[in-house]
Amino acid sequence: MNKNDLTRIEIELLIDAIKKRYGYDFSHYAQSSFRRRVENRLNALGLNTISDLIPRLMHDELFFEDVLVGFSITVTEMFRDPKFYRDIRTIVIPKLKTYPYLKIWHAGCATGEEIYSMAILLHEEGLLEQTQIYATDFNNTALKTAERGIYPLDDMENHAKNYYEAGGAKEFSEYYRTQYKSAKLKGFLKEKITFANHNLVTDGVFGEMHMIICRNVMIYFDKNLQDRAYSLFVESLIHRGFLCLGTKDTVAFSIVSENFEILAKRNKIFRLLPNAKLRNRIGEKHA
Ligand SMILES: C[S@@+](CC[C@H](N)C(=O)[O-])C[C@H]1O[C@@H](n2cnc3c(N)ncnc32)[C@H](O)[C@@H]1O
Repeated sequence: MNKNDLTRIEIELLIDAIKKRYGYDFSHYAQSSFRRRVENRLNALGLNTISDLIPRLMHDELFFEDVLVGFSITVTEMFRDPKFYRDIRTIVIPKLKTYPYLKIWHAGCATGEEIYSMAILLHEEGLLEQTQIYATDFNNTALKTAERGIYPLDDMENHAKNYYEAGGAKEFSEYYRTQYKSAKLKGFLKEKITFANHNLVTDGVFGEMHMIICRNVMIYFDKNLQDRAYSLFVESLIHRGFLCLGTKDTVAFSIVSENFEILAKRNKIFRLLPNAKLRNRIGEKHA
């Protein structure tokens, strides 16, 4: 048996062990990137084989939390892809202003920079007061950082640059207080945010949303799992709700593609069609 086949078997055993012990299912993650992340963890831990990971994972929950952090890529920034936020301001916000209250779900929010960006934008557009934002991720460590809302001061210059490119017209530094080498985002930005663990592989609908933002998460999923997540989003959206994806993601070619119209092609903003029907319920395709 060659090394590649051996690694494939070890990864299957690892995925099975994690699923049975902790309920996290990585079997529909894009294989090559998942494998890379497992190998990175092995190197960081100084282990020789993937099989060496399994016994400790089975018996040490804290170790699992730590490994999970390594498996999930939480790279993010405030106003990431500024043009996306420009489109939100110009295309989506005028439509959102027609609702008396709003529910917005950020799925896979990582360490939260994206949520606070949205809170700032809604505040500037006079919509924050009437909005409930749900910030979810399956990585509890990232969620804790999101909830704290404290980020390295060194990163603020880049966040500010993005903010201005995204159409921000205020002084960006008005939104945080400096504490030594950190920037603490102001409390009013957090008041409307609920932070919760939600796993797009195993968890279901938890509310009716006017807008769902799930950016740069689908790239880690295989087609089956993408379909599962997209179906979940369709089920979670109100009539004519909005779905926002990362620049490399798309609902085209997914089982829900016929349910959406494209509002911003490059910045991946979609809206449910008036006659949208869920042709494929969650779980039908995804075992
Ligand atoms: C690259 S970050 C994207 C962060 C942010 N949305 C952005 O675009 O900047 C991907 C996030 O997806 C989360 N993620 C991966 N698999 C997930 C799952 N099954 N359920 C929920 N979140 C997941 C990871 O923990 C990570 O925080």
